[in-house]
Amino acid sequence: MSERRDVLHSWCVQADWDAPTVVGGAGARFFLEDGRAILDLSSQAECCNLGHQHPRVTAAIRAQAEALCYIANAWGAGSRAALARRLLEVSGFEGGRVFFTLGGADANENAVKIARQAAGKPHGLIVARERSYHGASFMGMALSGDARTQAQVDAEAFGVRRVPAPYAYRCPFGGATEEESGRLAAEAVGACIDAAGGRAAGVIMEPDAGTNGIVAPDSYWPTLRAVTRQRGALLIADEVMSGFGRCGEWFAWQRYGEAGRPDLMTLAKGLTGAAIPLGAVVLSAEVSARLEHEMLQTGLTYCGHPLACAAGIAALAAYEEEGLIERSRRMGGDLLAALRRMQARHAVIGDVRGGRGLFAVIELVADRASRMPLASWPRQPPGLKALAEAAFAEEGISLATRGNLIILAPPLVIGERELADALDALDRLMGRFFPPQEDSPA
Ligand SMILES: Cc1ncc(COP(=O)(O)O)c(C=O)c1O
Repeated sequence: MSERRDVLHSWCVQADWDAPTVVGGAGARFFLEDGRAILDLSSQAECCNLGHQHPRVTAAIRAQAEALCYIANAWGAGSRAALARRLLEVSGFEGGRVFFTLGGADANENAVKIARQAAGKPHGLIVARERSYHGASFMGMALSGDARTQAQVDAEAFGVRRVPAPYAYRCPFGGATEEESGRLAAEAVGACIDAAGGRAAGVIMEPDAGTNGIVAPDSYWPTLRAVTRQRGALLIADEVMSGFGRCGEWFAWQRYGEAGRPDLMTLAKGLTGAAIPLGAVVLSAEVSARLEHEMLQTGLTYCGHPLACAAGIAALAAYEEEGLIERSRRMGGDLLAALRRMQARHAVIGDVRGGRGLFAVIELVADRASRMPLASWPRQPPGLKALAEAAFAEEGISLATRGNLIILAPPLVIGERELADALDALDRLMGRFFPPQEDSPA
């Protein structure tokens, strides 16, 4: 039975929705009703980091369901306690606390609330950036610099101030190098905090991967950390997408060592490998200490749902025991190298970036020398739409595209051969849908 008639689907024109029904999955593939196995090159919404139906996670859910599905946050639950402990251990946020949510948007909502309460500024301003995504709740949209959500909310009224993105390929500050571009973008946050004249409570940023296709240069996060610390603004790392190995570390900020540690970080997606909805806000020891003897002004019926937490514990064990974080780092490097070779063959590929883990972006251009976009953001060039359709219909590959971008974020369990074959298929499709022009050799 198709859900086409009865379900209101996300981020699409309802009349256009016509997707096949998925009935199962294993590893990096999901299975359609008609028997086809599709290679998932985006981990769905960059969330199935463990692939589909990871046996360890499904077994943990089954066992927890039989013992205790739900108990409210006013009571203790073993799986909730164990997951919080494990998260503090792998992140090194010892002495901190974990507030559990249902997903990414409400993790960010609550991180803002908690940061404002900890800063003693209940209406404190929050600095966020353009070309970002933090969720589709109202505060999530206010924080997001996303073309889909911008018109829906008055960000200023939510106390949000935005700065340009660390977009080195089209640097809004005119930076000549990646290093300069990242540094200038971080310094702009400092200027924004200064302009708020003491009213800023915090800053929220994606440290690495994001659906808007920005990959911050390495100079960005360390400078941002220094700039926020100097000004006493709490730094929230939105690790909803970049966490759990996606960028080659448990959490993307860890690439920069202790000096990169944020004051709070938000998690979701890979936290359970998407098997059950779960999000979290992880607080540093210092932020937790500020709240220790005050009433916390927030709560959710499903805060730390035992079933979801059991899935989280199993997911963390799978990342660790299967060496998936290191695997992502190694395969991410190989992925970026393969995309650079592909770029040398196709003039339409203007930029490739990412590759710190299994997350990489291909940006298509009409002209490589001038970097003229193939279509104005966020419009999708028809050739790219056709390429993604052919990838699915002919090659059995599910690709994520956005505007001029192809976002590659396969499950961390994808086979090396599987990924190499998919990249060969993508290479062929590039040649077919974007053949070289007579006067513009690749
Ligand atoms: C960086 C980031 N933050 C927040 C969210 C929102 O998460 P959710 O859809 O679970 O509310 C997303 C979702 O794509 C995300 O990529």
